[in-house]
Amino acid sequence: MGMAKVLCQFLAIFSLLTISFCAENFDVRKHLSTVTRYNAVKDVADSNFVPSTIPSECTPIHINLVARHGTRSPTKKRMRELDRLATSLEVLLSEAKRRLPEEDEALKKIPSWLWGWKSPWKGKKVGGELIPQGEEELYQLAIRIKEIFKCLFDEDYHPDIYTIRATQIPRASASAVSFGMGLFQGKGSLGPGQHRAFSVISESRASDTLLRFFESCASYKDYRKNQEPAVEKLKEPILDEVTSALAKRYPLNITRQETSSLWFLCKQEASLLNTTDQACGLFSPYEISLLEWTDDLEVFILKGYGKSINYHMGLPLLQDVVQSMEQAIKAKEEHHTPGSYEKARFRFAHAETVVPFSCLLGLFLDGAEFAQIQRDEALELPLKPPHKRNWRGSTVAPFAGNNILVLYSCPTSDASQYFVQVLHNEIPVPLPGCDYTDFCPFEVFKERVVSPHLKHDVNSICNVKQEQPEPCSVTSKFLKLFHFLFSQKKDDEAQFHKHKHEL
Ligand SMILES: *[C@@H]1O[C@H](CO)[C@@H](O)[C@H](O)[C@H]1NC(C)=O
Ligand SMILES: *[C@@H]1O[C@H](CO)[C@@H](O)[C@H](O)[C@H]1NC(C)=O
Repeated sequence: MGMAKVLCQFLAIFSLLTISFCAENFDVRKHLSTVTRYNAVKDVADSNFVPSTIPSECTPIHINLVARHGTRSPTKKRMRELDRLATSLEVLLSEAKRRLPEEDEALKKIPSWLWGWKSPWKGKKVGGELIPQGEEELYQLAIRIKEIFKCLFDEDYHPDIYTIRATQIPRASASAVSFGMGLFQGKGSLGPGQHRAFSVISESRASDTLLRFFESCASYKDYRKNQEPAVEKLKEPILDEVTSALAKRYPLNITRQETSSLWFLCKQEASLLNTTDQACGLFSPYEISLLEWTDDLEVFILKGYGKSINYHMGLPLLQDVVQSMEQAIKAKEEHHTPGSYEKARFRFAHAETVVPFSCLLGLFLDGAEFAQIQRDEALELPLKPPHKRNWRGSTVAPFAGNNILVLYSCPTSDASQYFVQVLHNEIPVPLPGCDYTDFCPFEVFKERVVSPHLKHDVNSICNVKQEQPEPCSVTSKFLKLFHFLFSQKKDDEAQFHKHKHEL
């Protein structure tokens, strides 16, 4: 920590731009891309946006939730990576010990936790499950939703009134159960918590076109497979930069792979164990912001605005949301009796679901970018720190990250008007497609946010194989891009504008 401070002061002298990374309150737990915990970011609103005041005559009549599962433990594959890290750290340390005299200052710089370090997940045979903190995230989310939309939850439970769907992946269905326990506690007769049973429905994981479209879309799978090496290439210069910084700071001959594993360890420690002074403490705040950016680039390219197939394949989910709203409006217009129509539809899935869904809504775009997306043009990559960027994995899809679409009915003298409000991580967000309001007339929402996507037919997008997979040419474009991104030249900006259309 002292290290970070000294470095900060040093940097601050040279560049005002770096000051933002040096603030005393830099909290690594907010900079873990999609490994960020919900609580670390849920109250971070865009301070430039003032949410609409909902007219008092308007009442919510239906809500849709699309949520990511809560905090989970690392997968088996990643746990083995940490075991390998322990082995190679041991080698590095004994090398340093052999090379340097016992009283050497450099040796004393090595943080004491590194000596004899073992992965906290060593010997664990299973991974990927929702952990107790993750249960808490969804449980508390349900309690807040029930409180905010009281009038929607005054009815007896029925599976057709409160629909709960999860993917067929245990951490997603456990998230749905945690949420349901929060939502319906006190409403049943089971145990002292007066719990009640509720149903969670899943499609088969291979044919879940609403929540696991990324698995049933063949051409997306091809795209992803072809693109992954390019994404790794894109990260290399940053990993190399951080690797040489670490090698200067500690007498350890660290490789790029070890830097990558240490960053992974930092994210797991900070997120799951609330430990920020071990692996995370090896990096300066600026280095963390660079590593965070590489993760955000990956999310952008493989799940977000980097390629239109990433979100167009999620259209059935958007249509399902709209259809649920139309049913709710019909029930309202036709005065259906309470208890006969749906009031909320809750869905629990993955970052690969929530990110594309947010893109379909046009979230996190500025005006020019929204126009580009509507013309099916690729966006430029999110800018490297210290430049500001809207696209942050920690905001777009932290653990338990979610979008809530609230349908409001606003009675007028002759008929009702309907509005849609989008809450991202429970905070109202402006819709670029709806003149940047967060309170969008339903007809405008359908016409300007949803309809432009409908010219794309999901079946043809997904089933038709790309005629000519061109991994080499795509890679070379990314190579060009990162040469310019990482070059130290002052004319970066000019070069950027030349290259961005090639993306
Ligand atoms: C560091 O490791 C690399 C490859 O493992 C090796 O080529 C290099 O000589 C080592 N440097 C030092 C200072 O030990
Ligand atoms: C995490 O650690 C911070 C101190 O760094 C402490 O204030 C906070 O209460 C801890 N959170 C949890 C959930 O233990």
